[in-house]
Amino acid sequence: MNQANLRPNDRYNEEDSNTTANPHIDAVISARLSRRNLLAGGVGAAGGALLGGLGLSGCATPAATSAVVAQSAPLSTLGFTAISKSLADTVTVAPGYQIQVLYALGDPLTGSTPAYKNDGTDTDFDKRAGDHHDGMEWFGLDANGKPSASSTSRALLAINHEATTDEKLSSFFLHANGGTSKLPRPASEVDKELAIHGISVVEIEAKGNRWSYNAASPFNRRVTTMTDVLVHGPAKGSEHLVTKFSPDGTRARGTVNNCGTGKTPWNTFVSGEENWAGYFFRDAKDDERRGKKDKQVAALVRYGRKAGDASRHGWESAGAGDAYVRWNNGALAADAKSDYRNEMNTFGYVVEMDAYNSRLAVRKRTGLGRFAHESVSFAKPVPGQPIVAYMGDDSRGEYMYKFVSSARWDAADAHSADPLGVGDKYLDRGTLYVASFKSDGTGQWLELSMVNPIVAANPDFEFKSDADVAIFTRLAADAVNATKMDRPEWGGVNPRTGDFYMTLTNNSNRTVDGEMGVDAANPRTYTDIKGGQQSSGNVQTNEYAKAAVPGKEQKGNVNGHIIRVAQTNPADTAFKWDIYLFASEADADKTRVNLSNLTDDNDLSAPDGLVFSPSTGICWIQTDDGAMTDKTNCMLLAAVPGQVGDGSTKTLAYKRADGSEKRVDTPMGKAPTADHLKRFLVGPVNCEITGLCESPDGRAMFINIQHPGELTPMADVGNPAKYTSHWPANAGYGAGQRPRSATIVITKTDGGVIGS
Ligand code: FEO
Ligand code: CA
Ligand code: CA
Repeated sequence: MNQANLRPNDRYNEEDSNTTANPHIDAVISARLSRRNLLAGGVGAAGGALLGGLGLSGCATPAATSAVVAQSAPLSTLGFTAISKSLADTVTVAPGYQIQVLYALGDPLTGSTPAYKNDGTDTDFDKRAGDHHDGMEWFGLDANGKPSASSTSRALLAINHEATTDEKLSSFFLHANGGTSKLPRPASEVDKELAIHGISVVEIEAKGNRWSYNAASPFNRRVTTMTDVLVHGPAKGSEHLVTKFSPDGTRARGTVNNCGTGKTPWNTFVSGEENWAGYFFRDAKDDERRGKKDKQVAALVRYGRKAGDASRHGWESAGAGDAYVRWNNGALAADAKSDYRNEMNTFGYVVEMDAYNSRLAVRKRTGLGRFAHESVSFAKPVPGQPIVAYMGDDSRGEYMYKFVSSARWDAADAHSADPLGVGDKYLDRGTLYVASFKSDGTGQWLELSMVNPIVAANPDFEFKSDADVAIFTRLAADAVNATKMDRPEWGGVNPRTGDFYMTLTNNSNRTVDGEMGVDAANPRTYTDIKGGQQSSGNVQTNEYAKAAVPGKEQKGNVNGHIIRVAQTNPADTAFKWDIYLFASEADADKTRVNLSNLTDDNDLSAPDGLVFSPSTGICWIQTDDGAMTDKTNCMLLAAVPGQVGDGSTKTLAYKRADGSEKRVDTPMGKAPTADHLKRFLVGPVNCEITGLCESPDGRAMFINIQHPGELTPMADVGNPAKYTSHWPANAGYGAGQRPRSATIVITKTDGGVIGS
């Protein structure tokens, strides 16, 4: 959910706790150049006006040095016709393509689970598809049900179920009357909500060009907030993970707010726990109770939980049982072994799962750090070299990370009979880094471990071990002055060039100066008017757009951008970077907002999902937008990008209230042409488009439509005519009219490769 459409509960989707005073890039550089400049940069008012870009400076960035990776059949241009923006309550796709709804919230995952009635009376959600389908990966099956890298017609989809459509505590489409919107929440409602979060595995099969899922498949699996999981990596056994459930700190219970995904080179599923903090309650006296010496107090705040913070769903209020009490940070007993004071520390990791084996517990890979994880992108593995994984922390002003394994890649591990054992080998021991972007188009990955004296001797927060670094990662990254980014979301590695791309979805807190002042890597702050006179005549049909008239002022980096990083060797600490794409409305000012020359065929806002197709090399870009939803629903675009260094430097100049000027030089990639960036699909009303995987031949593509109709008022749950979306019921899928998150499959009507 994008912050531009905030309901009261949506603050749980975007906590904002990075108040550290890390100097941003320009301040650091200014400090080196001139103390006077630094002072000027620090005192300017946040409301300075943008003078406008000063055009290309002519100092082209150096050519990329990334290794070119051979790729079988990459597409050099996009073969389809771009589609228009749309506010229709349907999935619109490029001409020559068709879509089919495959697997929606509540669909049964066992042969004996009743069909989903979709009227709020359904139960047994641990045997049904969860809610808010998000990241998704393909795991092929052959005719004998064995793992297959080549099968194109039978597979398992592993899918994150991030959250649920909620208002005033309740997941209201899940309950017949909308549920209970005050505390205490009834256990009967909470039990359903605990089960609709997590992950599912579902078997799918094609007969001709018709796909279906198999409700009775023995491979089907649910992992929920209640499933036993194992703690792995440096934090295993830490005193900070000791709970009543696991007195030795080696086990934990469940996974929550699973957002982006990844697929390891050894064919397992990885999933990022993102906005987990919001599920936890802290009462107003919790700081006092814990006492000033408890370093957990600083950590709880840095991870978004101040004393007095309410929880998103009030699960902690549903009774005295462990299933509920564990969500209350402040219910302290005699010691950590008798209560859940540390429960929040058991969330915030990347979890790894063998999609083919439901008997094996999910493993929390603590070596990859603890933050608001989105996706995990693996560099192409090279025998004899470390495994490298890129990750982002999605909150305003948070950081980009990289993990480098201690073990060197052995190609035989790609086909192991014990893939989670292979995961232990590569993900449990290694080094975590955080990114620092310099304004000259170079950057540095800074080590987060006790080897780095800045971490080990940090005066602000005591790190005693690498377990502490794994658990309190954000505080370690603060210590080394990492660059505060505009909400890092998904990443992807371009199979053609090896360049790593990351979406920076937007940042309403980006200002000209101050702690989140514009810098080279996050260079835009501007004002956009949504709806009202600024809308370009689109008929505003949904409830939210009507409410937005006569126009709403949006500030900061309203539309987001996509940054990319090139390295000679992925394990190196030095990198080069540029900005591949500035998202924008087509009619925005081309000198300061629409810097990538976007048109009506490819303008977008809030890039979030980003997946490179292994078969075609297309960079698929998905949006989770609230800023441009007066003009269009969220969308999927296809891109064929170049490489880091293929553009030139852009200078932006901001005028402060006192008349002084701040100039930002940013290395920018070559602007995309009409053949290299096109809108492919637009979703129904109030949805996010997310998750993407494909069959190995590139002829079937799977994406998720998350939370259609999410801006329906809870009070209207009994009145289908008032729902802002009726999808997928209006596409002929399933019973009832309540909108449902769902997986769809896209095929070309002539059976061809998607995007060709
Ligand atoms: Fe779950 Fe940052 O998106
Ligand atoms: Ca606008
Ligand atoms: Ca996301």
